[in-house]
Amino acid sequence: MGKILVFANQKGGVGKTTTAATLGAYLAQHQKKVLLVDFDPQGNLTSSVGADKTLPGIYEVITGVKQLTDCVQATGEANLFVLGSNINLSGAGVELIGQKDREFFLKNALAPVKEAYDYIFIDSPPSLDLITINGLVAADGVFIPLQCEYFAMEGLSQLVKTIQAVQKGLNRSLEIAGIILTMYDSRTNLAQDVAREAVKYFKDKVFRTIIPRNVHLGEAPSHGLTINRYRPGSPGAKAYEKLAEEVLQRV
Ligand SMILES: Nc1ncnc2c1ncn2[C@@H]1O[C@H](COP(=O)(O)OP(=O)(O)O)[C@@H](O)[C@H]1O
Ligand SMILES: [Mg+2]
Repeated sequence: MGKILVFANQKGGVGKTTTAATLGAYLAQHQKKVLLVDFDPQGNLTSSVGADKTLPGIYEVITGVKQLTDCVQATGEANLFVLGSNINLSGAGVELIGQKDREFFLKNALAPVKEAYDYIFIDSPPSLDLITINGLVAADGVFIPLQCEYFAMEGLSQLVKTIQAVQKGLNRSLEIAGIILTMYDSRTNLAQDVAREAVKYFKDKVFRTIIPRNVHLGEAPSHGLTINRYRPGSPGAKAYEKLAEEVLQRV
């Protein structure tokens, strides 16, 4: 076992961080041991599971200042752990650029703990820079969250090209593990349009479960809780619970 999955989409605000945290929490409830790796300098994943952004995290690990196992933080959820991040990571792209094997820092950092977890989820920043490339190189699969809005598909070809380039040169075993439709608003027809477009392009890679727009999903991170603790009965919670079941079957 031990699957590494990266959440990638260079568009911001599409649900990468929310999905990494929430899916991680539900898989943890299914007795899977999950490590969330916050690989975005904004550190939103770290705070959304109630962890401490000021403690050493992934930046200190990839720069060799700290051992990974010393930086993993427990969360309020049993089986769910996080390797935090903060603004220090924003310098990493520039610091790594001149270095040998600069695309492999995250892969090398995670290698010793890969078998210690059932799933390792990497959250990435809204860009296709060296940080995201490190995520794609380290992973077995990519999850692409797509917001059910008009411009959802725009820029996707760029992401797909980047994935293909990584598959060719740096990580031959990388797969697209799934497309996750997020922030569906039932008052518009856009979701169906986006879903149709996504299925046309990605076929059965698109998860059947669609995540609705739900105010409680937006509120939960400010309480340092995932939705399964914050509002377990809400439509957002139910959708992510279903998505977790689909992931358990397919990934
Ligand atoms: N399904 C949803 N319904 C309502 N708000 C959401 C939903 N998913 C995410 N959000 C909120 O939208 C914002 C962007 O989501 P986020 O997961 O941070 O996206 P990304 O990581 O791709 O930038 C956050 O404030 C988050 O709390
Ligand atoms: Mg994010």
